[in-house]
Amino acid sequence: MNTRSKTGVLFVCLGNICRSPMAEGVFRHLIERKGLAGRFVIESAGTSSWHAGEPAHPGAIRAAKTMGFDITGHHARKVVADDFERFHYLLAMDQTNLRHLQGTAPDPAAPTLDLLLNYTDAGINEVPDPYYAAEDGFRECLDLITRGAEGFLEFVLDPRNRRSGA
Ligand code: 4NP
Repeated sequence: MNTRSKTGVLFVCLGNICRSPMAEGVFRHLIERKGLAGRFVIESAGTSSWHAGEPAHPGAIRAAKTMGFDITGHHARKVVADDFERFHYLLAMDQTNLRHLQGTAPDPAAPTLDLLLNYTDAGINEVPDPYYAAEDGFRECLDLITRGAEGFLEFVLDPRNRRSGA
């Protein structure tokens, strides 16, 4: 693991233009506000390369802006084998993403592969795909993602759950 002294978290969706860039952005926003940014390495990626190199979807950018953070610098990329070495947690937005990660992980024992919404009591464990949704869809997704990110941060800061120096 290249990031032993920090906790590595990779947020994963299908295209890496809607849900996972919002998750990366909101998690970064949370840890920056708490002065914890130096304790994490965070990125996002997609299980497909369909939008590789593209910025985040305009709906995701607008939803992020309403929450006070900026994801205009994002460039989509696909999950690569090295991600399973660099990150302690790969957090998927839905079951299809998670199954993809489970199917491609070189070593199923490490890192932790999980659903972001498993860290909430939101009542659902998948973030709906907003790609074809109206503007409201992005905001609803971001609300769910924010709950997941807050729950995950609480989890990962609990010394009983610590997998690294964070
Ligand atoms: P994401 O959303 O996985 O949240 O980035 C999607 C982006 C693109 C497509 C589907 C979902 N697509 O079909 O191209």
